[in-house]
Amino acid sequence: MTEIHAGTGTGQGTQPELAPPPSCPAHAGYAAAGAGGLARLYGKTAESDPLGIYAHLREQYGAVAPVAMYGDVPAWLVLGYRENMDVARTPNRFTRDARQWTDLQQGLLPSDSPLIPMVGWRPDCVSQDGPEHRRLRSAVNDSLNTFDRLGMRRYIRHYAEQLIDTFCMDGHADLLGQYARYLPMHVLTRMIGLSEEFAPQLVEASLAAVKGTEEALAADRFITDTLTRLVAERHEDPAYDLASRLIEHEAGLTDEEVMVHLRLVMVAAYETTTTLIANTTRMVLTDPRFRASLTGGLMTVPDAVEQVLWDEPPLQVCPARFATDDTELGGQQIKAGDMLLLGLVAGNTDPYIRPDPEASMQGNRAHLAFSRGPHECPGQDIGRMITEIGVDTLLARLPDVRLSLTEDELSYTSNTWSRHLDELPARFTPQRPAVADGGGRKIASAVSGKPGDSHAVAALSAGKVGAPTGAGPADAVPKPAAAPAPAGSASAAEAAARAATGASRGLAVRLRALWSGLTGRSRG
Ligand code: HEM
Repeated sequence: MTEIHAGTGTGQGTQPELAPPPSCPAHAGYAAAGAGGLARLYGKTAESDPLGIYAHLREQYGAVAPVAMYGDVPAWLVLGYRENMDVARTPNRFTRDARQWTDLQQGLLPSDSPLIPMVGWRPDCVSQDGPEHRRLRSAVNDSLNTFDRLGMRRYIRHYAEQLIDTFCMDGHADLLGQYARYLPMHVLTRMIGLSEEFAPQLVEASLAAVKGTEEALAADRFITDTLTRLVAERHEDPAYDLASRLIEHEAGLTDEEVMVHLRLVMVAAYETTTTLIANTTRMVLTDPRFRASLTGGLMTVPDAVEQVLWDEPPLQVCPARFATDDTELGGQQIKAGDMLLLGLVAGNTDPYIRPDPEASMQGNRAHLAFSRGPHECPGQDIGRMITEIGVDTLLARLPDVRLSLTEDELSYTSNTWSRHLDELPARFTPQRPAVADGGGRKIASAVSGKPGDSHAVAALSAGKVGAPTGAGPADAVPKPAAAPAPAGSASAAEAAARAATGASRGLAVRLRALWSGLTGRSRG
């Protein structure tokens, strides 16, 4: 990227932090950054007011702006709606293949850069275009489409009920930390074929993997290790899950390809769906338009979801495209090999298509939240389904649920890619649990990281990461958990753990070590 020169514009938005000028020796590799330095998409200002930075950049540069990523790596941020569509829909001009990125080719990016999990080349369909993309994506798409949607709806609702059972008697809860953060991962671990025991660990690992910070690499290793074991297991012992479907697909995926696509589904689906649930819940609880309309029957939860996808898409900036040739975009001269980022929220709020940002977008699904073109999200109906059922179940179970804070008191954290709530504290009249079989207790123990599910612990102890294959098709409602053991007596789980062989204990220790390495703490 040699032609970027940041100006000194006087935009209305938040003044971004600027990367140091190229004379700084620490940034000599990025000497092309321009005399004034580039607006940073990371750091304090970007974490507190990304929308202000986009407004400033739009004012200063128009539809496409030069920016600096973590480590002051330069890129172009696409802010215009039409320009985002152009980039996403023309892979022959803007490829997903990071091997065409000049900075990577010239070795300017440190091999341990936390940007790599998000923008580096990976052997999955995200990093490909053309026939290879179609081969890999068809395996993911076909496999996701074979899940019976009615069955999925049933088990999404079942997990939602179980999670609500863990806090419904308290009269208060953090709807992010106790609900939105766990519902998608319970659905995903089941869909993929992993034991439920992994859901809480995968929650933290998946969050860390997309942060673009130092933790990302360790998180990535933990997820990869777990999924590699699952693929090996499913080869020997196929089940009714995504892992087995990918193995069996006619595209003939190698084991490595199966693993990376399971990983892709988990990372792509998890944080995005969590954020969508949290933002939709906040909106229906705070925005008088939705509250009044929901009770009046005019506005449905799916309508609320769509409005959130316009105003606060979970992925606010989507990585990454690379120019295949010198070209022009939004008045900027882009060089072959430059990196471009899709500014999804900036495109959704582009004044050219939304002159009145307050106007309702009801019935209009033309937003960019799932991107466009050949890489458009193949799991969007699943993400919508989990969100709609999650919010719907919450409103049905806790009819007078309300936030404990005012909307202004809620806090958010942003990184380069996304912006999410820190917590969503709510109050409600205490309710009796709905699942009489101890399901809430089972999920509660998984959330706290303590053994509580005899199936899952026995599977772990036996060196397995997959759900027991005897559990029935993944579309079916999960079997009830075993009755909890009386206080003071050894539970079935503890008995199973005690019966573990030396080898399986070794596995548990290794998993704990991986986990401690990732989180910097021990789970005892
Ligand atoms: C509601 C939450 C979700 C949002 C907002 C979302 C958004 C996105 C976006 C913006 C992309 C990038 C497209 C591009 O590079 O142009 C993407 C890709 C992808 N998403 Fe989603 N997603 C969500 C849920 C899911 C779910 C639930 C799954 C799977 C069950 C999933 C699977 C994928 C996959 C496999 C890709 C890569 C597709 C490709 O490169 O061909 N996503 N998603």
